[in-house]
Amino acid sequence: MYKARAWLSRSFTALSSNPLRVCVVGSGPAGFYTAEKTLKAHQEAQVDIIDRLPTPFGLVRSGVAPDHPETKIVINQFSRVVQHERCSFFGNVTLGSSVSLSELRQLYHVVVLAYGAESDRALGIPGEDLIGVHSAREFVWWYNGHPDGKNLSPDLKSTDTAVILGQGNVALDVARILLRPTEELATTDIASYAWTALEGSSIRKVYLVGRRGPVQAACTAKELREILGIKNLYVHIREDDLIKSPTDEEEMKNSRIQRRVYELLSKAAASASSQPMLGQRELHFVFFRKPDSFLESNERSGHVSGVHFEKTALKGGGPGKQYAVGTGEFEDLDCGMVLKSIGYKSVPVNGLPFDNHKGIVPNIRGRVLKNISGDSSQVENGLYVCGWLKRGPTGIIATNLYCAEETVASISEDLEQGVLASSSGLPKPGREGLLQLLDNRNVRPVPFSAWEKIDSEEKRLGSLRNKPKEKLTTYEDLLKVAT
Ligand SMILES: Cc1cc2nc3c(=O)[nH]c(=O)nc-3n(C[C@H](O)[C@H](O)[C@H](O)COP(=O)(O)OP(=O)(O)OC[C@H]3O[C@@H](n4cnc5c(N)ncnc54)[C@H](O)[C@@H]3O)c2cc1C
Ligand SMILES: NC(=O)c1ccc[n+]([C@@H]2O[C@H](COP(=O)([O-])OP(=O)(O)OC[C@H]3O[C@@H](n4cnc5c(N)ncnc54)[C@H](OP(=O)(O)O)[C@@H]3O)[C@@H](O)[C@H]2O)c1
Repeated sequence: MYKARAWLSRSFTALSSNPLRVCVVGSGPAGFYTAEKTLKAHQEAQVDIIDRLPTPFGLVRSGVAPDHPETKIVINQFSRVVQHERCSFFGNVTLGSSVSLSELRQLYHVVVLAYGAESDRALGIPGEDLIGVHSAREFVWWYNGHPDGKNLSPDLKSTDTAVILGQGNVALDVARILLRPTEELATTDIASYAWTALEGSSIRKVYLVGRRGPVQAACTAKELREILGIKNLYVHIREDDLIKSPTDEEEMKNSRIQRRVYELLSKAAASASSQPMLGQRELHFVFFRKPDSFLESNERSGHVSGVHFEKTALKGGGPGKQYAVGTGEFEDLDCGMVLKSIGYKSVPVNGLPFDNHKGIVPNIRGRVLKNISGDSSQVENGLYVCGWLKRGPTGIIATNLYCAEETVASISEDLEQGVLASSSGLPKPGREGLLQLLDNRNVRPVPFSAWEKIDSEEKRLGSLRNKPKEKLTTYEDLLKVAT
């Protein structure tokens, strides 16, 4: 029996006319690492990466902050992957509208979903829809020139105060972009419309608000040090908030990151002057506050004018598991803009099992399960998941490398054990079939060579402004250059 299975699995290798057809959906880090590992592990595999955007690289292009160019160098590695003779990229192809999941599964032996998290966790509190309340994701897409972000046009002129909810690294990114002197952003790849808006911004005060304490702040030390080091910035942290409980002490003993973050916050609190100097921008860390509702302006109907917070205390769980509970005491913070930075959320496509509560595709080591019961015998044959869609919206770029290794190992095991081969050892149409289907639907895929044209044009436009690139920020412009 095993011999027969092994033969079936090798049948992909033996016949070049019958490659193992693999489609990876999403060209962020998870997608690229999956492609890279698959190409390496399976000499017989032909890997097609599709993305809904005409541009590849996911959050490396549209998430990583413009003032972090060194982080984007990984793009070179991803570009080498797609230039492999057995790999292709097709942008402008959306799973769910250009092609359905069931169609992809008919076309390919293996489909790996790595399409990230393109929505937001909601607070579900009154006033969340008021004008001026945005998610950090929308704001990040806006300053990074994502074609779905341009229209956000946040009003940075009608207020001097922004409140950011959440204290993770995304919250720090958006706070830094609001507070950093704009001349330091001028030579980055920030979208030019965003730079112009920031240049004219009247926001001088940013409040970074966490529902737990400084020991539980979700950011990391390098990112915290960077924001604290912004030129001519007044930093305020209340001494009271820095008081630690015995459980906090335990938590810090167990976590070097938490220790470093706490030390940096304490140091910043101790060295801050009592008042901001004239013209200084201000960053206020506020702890132990959870948003209860957003306040509507009396003067500007429909616009946010502040956040109504409930003070919190930490309860239960022991080290690492403390959670915030309301104390019944409330406090308002006036502001004209709110950025909710409480986490991204994945969205399902038709026909895909989805755990709405966790916002992920139910899976075991990357194998998609038929439902959320966790029953490992109920797998969707040939369907896998990787990255934020698999684990939830946490982890840095490199985390997706390990995540891809795990998913590709599952694919390899399934091939070895004939699970895939037994059902799909027969040739599949793969790339040719996909291109035919897209052609029938008048969908114009953007191959990697066309992305290279976009890239060259962006670099050319950037060189005129002393920027590494000037991103094209509309579908129209991107597709015009791609053809
Ligand atoms: C604002 C921000 C800043 C960050 N900065 C850093 C940093 O400085 N350093 C670091 O190490 N990590 C950083 N990270 C984390 C890192 O970006 C993520 O770990 C990583 O991008 C997740 O990879 P992914 O491939 O799962 O998702 P993504 O990178 O989001 O890629 C998903 C891809 O799928 C595509 N897609 C979506 N829907 C569809 C569909 N229906 N059909 C086809 N394609 C689709 C998207 O266009 C996208 O290209 C940051 C994250 C954020 C949010
Ligand atoms: N430079 C970098 O390396 C970089 C830059 C950006 C992002 N990233 C990575 O990308 C990932 C995502 O970052 P992220 O900042 O979006 O997520 P995150 O690190 O999970 O932080 C989310 C924040 O939102 C808070 N929060 C969640 N639900 C809330 C609620 N209902 N009410 C109030 N607050 C709430 C959390 O508080 P609690 O802790 O109390 O839940 C936490 O402070 C992280 O792994 C991050 O490290 C890395």
